[in-house]
Amino acid sequence: MARISASVYTSHVPAIGAALDLGKSAEPYWQAVFKGYDFSKQWLKDQKPDVIFLVYNDHANAFSLDVIPTFAIGTAPEFTPADEGWGPRPVPKVIGHPKLAAHIAQSVIQDDFDLTIVNKMDVDHGLTVPLSLMCGQPQAWPCPVIPFAVNVVQYPAPSGRRCYMLGKAIRKAIETYDEPLNVQIWGTGGMSHQLQGPRAGLINKEFDNAFLDRLISDPEGLSRMPHIDYVREAGSEGIELVMWLIARGAMNDVNGGKQTSLRHRFYHVPASNTAVGHLILENN
Ligand code: DHB
Ligand code: FE
Repeated sequence: MARISASVYTSHVPAIGAALDLGKSAEPYWQAVFKGYDFSKQWLKDQKPDVIFLVYNDHANAFSLDVIPTFAIGTAPEFTPADEGWGPRPVPKVIGHPKLAAHIAQSVIQDDFDLTIVNKMDVDHGLTVPLSLMCGQPQAWPCPVIPFAVNVVQYPAPSGRRCYMLGKAIRKAIETYDEPLNVQIWGTGGMSHQLQGPRAGLINKEFDNAFLDRLISDPEGLSRMPHIDYVREAGSEGIELVMWLIARGAMNDVNGGKQTSLRHRFYHVPASNTAVGHLILENN
């Protein structure tokens, strides 16, 4: 059977992609961000996952305001980097895993979560920047990726609780797939940031670090935090953090298994308008 070996959590910021693509990663401002991922890049190479289930949000690139799926699973054989206004990022196309994605859709939908099945879509910085942070600039991404898009752009966004429970259903789906695949689940977006309005530029280090603490040690309690707390404390775009609860809900320790191990933790301010947070948790 397939198994989930680890979860990875990381912020995404379009300017991080631009810094890499335009050869600015050695500048002191960006070096401070990228050095938090040195361990992670080597770790990912050593772990050799067969598939990455990547939870992220689209920013009105694949889905316009015409159609807003709350949860969308990418079942296509490949996904092209989206043109977000300055042309598509010069990064490899994303190879999917249609067979495992279809199995997860079948299992999770029968488990009462209504996913949208997406057979064709482009993927924006929400998905490609986490891959860049974890992989650098390879010719091809290290393994197939199943994109899982969550609506956190247009209200109403799903609750933290819904995301956490969905993570458990995704875990069950992966662990009933009849092939011995090493699967990682990634939760991306966040941390605190607000891009618009009178509070634009908001960053809350105290909230972010408490979120990291609780995600590690009290994910169940954290999943009950209401939306208003995210918006008040972490800014309007801080709501992206609910996606981290999907990955966390899929780990062994919260599904009757052994303790997970914290392999890496990183926090840095600033990167463009956000705080960058990053965790790696391994199953035992
Ligand atoms: C920024 C952060 C985001 O999450 C995003 O989607 C767009 C911009 C920023 O920090 O500039
Ligand atoms: Fe974003």
